[in-house]
Amino acid sequence: MSATPSTTNVIVNHSDGIPSADTVVPNGKVAVPQVDAYPHSFYSQFLSTQSKARLPSPIRGLMPLELVPGIISLLAGKPNPSLFPITSMSITVRSPHATEGTPSEKVITMDGEKLTEALQYGPTAGLPDSVRWFAGLQEVAHKRPQGTDWALSIGSGSQDLIYKAFLAILNPGESVLVEAPVYGGVVPLLKAQSADCTEIDTDEYGVSTESMREILANWPAGKPKPKAFYTVPYGCNPSGVTTNLKRKEEVLALAHEHNFIIMEDDPYYYLYFGSSPRPPSYWELEGRGGYTRGRVLRFDSFSKILSSGLRLGLVTGPKPLVDAINLHTSTANLQVSSTTQAIAHAFLSEWGYDTFFEHTRLVSEFYRKKRDAFAKAMEKHLTGLAEWTIPEAGMFFWMKLRLPPTAAAPEGDSEELIRRKAFDAGVLALPGQSFFVLGRATPYVRASFSLLDEADVDEALRRLAGVVKSVQMPNA
Ligand SMILES: Cc1ncc(COP(=O)(O)O)c(C=O)c1O
Repeated sequence: MSATPSTTNVIVNHSDGIPSADTVVPNGKVAVPQVDAYPHSFYSQFLSTQSKARLPSPIRGLMPLELVPGIISLLAGKPNPSLFPITSMSITVRSPHATEGTPSEKVITMDGEKLTEALQYGPTAGLPDSVRWFAGLQEVAHKRPQGTDWALSIGSGSQDLIYKAFLAILNPGESVLVEAPVYGGVVPLLKAQSADCTEIDTDEYGVSTESMREILANWPAGKPKPKAFYTVPYGCNPSGVTTNLKRKEEVLALAHEHNFIIMEDDPYYYLYFGSSPRPPSYWELEGRGGYTRGRVLRFDSFSKILSSGLRLGLVTGPKPLVDAINLHTSTANLQVSSTTQAIAHAFLSEWGYDTFFEHTRLVSEFYRKKRDAFAKAMEKHLTGLAEWTIPEAGMFFWMKLRLPPTAAAPEGDSEELIRRKAFDAGVLALPGQSFFVLGRATPYVRASFSLLDEADVDEALRRLAGVVKSVQMPNA
């Protein structure tokens, strides 16, 4: 992986000179043009009515003009920074390269103009230095040169951006494909939007493209096709599954055939510890050529690799979709905390991309060891009581408990067992039901292995095993 981005120009301006693509042809499919990247007009069909109606903030819309040389700005009601009580900020940062004889910590101080910028209102999409650094990261990590056909914006964690993206794309009642099980954090928002969700099952290789193909091939005539497919491709929360290259290629092909956007929610991308080479992201894959670029809206999170309290996430993808999210931010939050962005930028720019990748390698190695310890304890306590696949990324085991069948649940239901019996026995986990957007009885349970030490894992799984045994053999 070359750690040098080709350019620092992230502002992407798109020519709209290519004919609109949203032409319905007689077989009901949407004709998509074979061009390198879609024109801006192509995305109109994907934007919700609410999103199209959003107006730019009259002040924020003009803020970029403050940067024009020679301009004296009377525009924004920015507070006078000479009155800010913070006069300097210092952070102490651990180096991933620390070895014997090398200092392992460095103090970075922010003052002067950089401090003012950190404490002041700033651009909606992010502070220019931060946007540049993250754009360089996306270029290096996913091999998509800047200045071509994508834009990037910083959010208050990826959740903020995912929420806004769903609102930007879906009108109430419109169709969306979601993997099953799905990240529980999107379930309430999809329900609140009355989204018409179609679940696509997953197996150990990722989302089932066979099932997706069949569902789309048999889509009811006259019903508009799904606008998007939402997926967590690395170490999925909750299933732990990493979608392989073949499946990703097939999903991409289906997205083109059936005209939908892939919402790639990838907070565990850097927590890959599998033994085979990592599959490319959807966003990288579509940039490799062979398809018109612009079907993938990618979400990154720095919660799992830098800090979840900093609340930093990215959305990267077609400019019209990123712009729609920015318009939402400009009215809902004005901007992500610039202080947070400045803190992250202070040490990330000090590190550079190579050190960032070294840090993420160490993070994933840490979780690989946690995964191994958890797998050992699963083997010890749950053999014969549950089934599971060993995850190659992320923080979760998704286990199928062997539970007695009920009339409503032929494979049993973990809901009551986990919420009440397991809790009473002193172990807290998440019953699988929380991860199905359409709701279903399921014997699955999600267990997180990120925090506990080996002794606590052993004890937690011993308790869980006891609870499963108690319902398998109630009279034992
Ligand atoms: C799949 C998935 N998406 C999004 C998020 C939200 O992450 P962030 O902290 O960046 O908002 C999480 C957090 O656990 C997650 O698991």
